[in-house]
Amino acid sequence: MRRNGKIAILTGGGDCPGINAVIRAVAKKAMLEYGMEVIGIKDGYEGIIHNYYRQFSFDDVSGILTLGGTILGTSNTANPYRYPSKKGNSGTEFNNVSQTALTNIAGLGIDCLVCIGGDGTLSIANSLFIDGVPVIGVPKTIDNDIQGTDITFGFNSAVTIATEGVDRLHTTAQSHHRVMIVELMGRNAGWITLQTGVASGCEVILIPEIPYDIAKVVEKVKDRNSQGKRFSIIVVAEGARQMGGDVVVQRVIKESTDPIRLGGIGFVLGREIEELSGIETRTVVMGHLQRSGVPTPFDRVLATRLGCRAVDMIMNNRFGYMVGVIGDSLKEVSLGEVAKGQRNIPLDEPLIRDARSVGTCFGD
Ligand code: F6P
Repeated sequence: MRRNGKIAILTGGGDCPGINAVIRAVAKKAMLEYGMEVIGIKDGYEGIIHNYYRQFSFDDVSGILTLGGTILGTSNTANPYRYPSKKGNSGTEFNNVSQTALTNIAGLGIDCLVCIGGDGTLSIANSLFIDGVPVIGVPKTIDNDIQGTDITFGFNSAVTIATEGVDRLHTTAQSHHRVMIVELMGRNAGWITLQTGVASGCEVILIPEIPYDIAKVVEKVKDRNSQGKRFSIIVVAEGARQMGGDVVVQRVIKESTDPIRLGGIGFVLGREIEELSGIETRTVVMGHLQRSGVPTPFDRVLATRLGCRAVDMIMNNRFGYMVGVIGDSLKEVSLGEVAKGQRNIPLDEPLIRDARSVGTCFGD
């Protein structure tokens, strides 16, 4: 392939710790090892549609390894194939502006567009690839729910933050003899909640993959009380639901590539537990704290490995692929596979079995 020696980096979807570490790895390796020119697209696909970008100097990508968020900005509504625009009182209209996006990308004269994002961003990257753009994907999300990779960067940081929060809640739960419920993010996948619950020794872990029976949850907290352990800590994923029930939706963002924002199950659960057990119950929503601040060392290392591998993939013309992690090794996965859907916790996940073995209740 003829090379221009120029690449672009884009970050899309919700931010998470470690994005800047990937930007740094891709840009530094591309500049240092291959003398490439690197540009950064601003605000995800919004920047592609409107030609917002900046030229990176080496200094721009230096000193950002530990910085949370993304120095490029992001968007979770700008989809070139379904671009929203407000139409007065008649609401939002969606248009296919992919031709503009493709023309703009061609105008950049790049050898590759590196797309750092979750399933929404990577599905769009796949469509761009099908439309002839040389793209490479890097999986990003605290939710850890991307197909084709065992782990995404950002996940370890989210679990670390959530675990620290739950650890802290022990003292107040114990002092007031209360049930404390902690609602965690993760969309329709329970990875953050499962790992946090195990790491902080929660009595009950409620995840979307295992709908719960409220009677079982109440039985667990009452049992503990009768054994003299007069407090319980429950972690609940925002996407969890009662058997036969539905998820709790906090808001719908029509323009978003994934419009449903979950949230509120912690309060529903809290009211029910208090009513049925007579034990005072409080709910804490960890929310966007899980996405904020510095990445853990684990995520910094992972982000650096992924970013460097992405540059190798550019040099090997492995366009249309994402760099994933299987076991301890990096693996190239086709974006077509990634676009097939989200990755949930399989019911035979060994960590669920181990948690049950140490007495954790999953509400089933
Ligand atoms: O995908 C990351 C995530 O933080 C989810 O865990 C959560 O459901 C969602 O994004 C929240 O989105 P927003 O930042 O739009 O509120």
